[in-house]
Amino acid sequence: MTLALAQPFPYQGSKRRLAPRILDRFPLAVERLVEPFCGSAAISIAAVAAGRTDRVWLNDSFAPLAALWRRILGDSGALSEEYRVLWTAQSRDPDRHFATVRAAFNRDGDPAKLLFLLARCVKGAVRFNGRGEFNQAPDRRRAGTRPDRMGRNLERVAALLAGRAVVTALDYAAVLAGVGPRDLVYLDPPYQGTSVDRDPRYHQQLDRPRLVEELARLRARGVPVLVSFDGRHGERAYGPDLPRRLGLARLALSAGRSSQATLLGRAAETVESLYVSPELLRGGRRRG
Ligand SMILES: C[S@@+](CC[C@H](N)C(=O)[O-])C[C@H]1O[C@@H](n2cnc3c(N)ncnc32)[C@H](O)[C@@H]1O
Repeated sequence: MTLALAQPFPYQGSKRRLAPRILDRFPLAVERLVEPFCGSAAISIAAVAAGRTDRVWLNDSFAPLAALWRRILGDSGALSEEYRVLWTAQSRDPDRHFATVRAAFNRDGDPAKLLFLLARCVKGAVRFNGRGEFNQAPDRRRAGTRPDRMGRNLERVAALLAGRAVVTALDYAAVLAGVGPRDLVYLDPPYQGTSVDRDPRYHQQLDRPRLVEELARLRARGVPVLVSFDGRHGERAYGPDLPRRLGLARLALSAGRSSQATLLGRAAETVESLYVSPELLRGGRRRG
């Protein structure tokens, strides 16, 4: 089942499709949901929409993305208008317009330009070059979300999260230092298999030993945690499991067939790991 939820912007790695299965592991009521690697915040949106929490902390260390979230929550009408202007201006020479907006974004980090780039680039995938500049190419088969639809999506997400969300642009470790046992932390770090190659998908690569140490500290403080980790595709695992000493149970969530495999005529199913702290396994399952 896919939740009929507005997606604020296309974002590769969005957990929108998996959200119902991840929410199944939530306690019935969550005092505050914390997403240190929020991206497009699919889990926070689903959790608030399902009435499971009314406080979320959205964090992403990609500062323009956090700035985009602040504008969605504080100023979605004006943001929609800026998007409309950027989107409409592409009609004559879409490739050139995309390149111009991308160059301007790399100078000023403006959130409206990021919104346009996410809507127009290949697979909604944020890619950076060695100088830390956004370098993803435009998708030549699509024009990107039409302004009216974008406006409606932003408005819905803003209405849902209004007064309920705090946004920061910190490193995830700084967020984890500020949580406690009454919070629920959902971590969706960049994938190992895609973040260590030469064309890093996200602006920062995953330092696995550091993540493991941060998780160990969190566990020692009794903070309930869910971690999406190790995308698997068919038989191929992208990286080693999280160590057993963390005491997290690994659940395999099916994310359906990958579109790439379907194109190639293979039937590989994408399975994603969700690591769950024991207190959520015991009393945490959604009842009914
Ligand atoms: C897999 S994506 C999260 C996708 C998200 N769950 C969604 O539904 O859209 C990982 C995110 O972590 C962010 N990130 C990478 N390194 C980070 C760090 N050290 N601290 C905080 N965020 C980081 C990236 O910018 C990216 O948006």
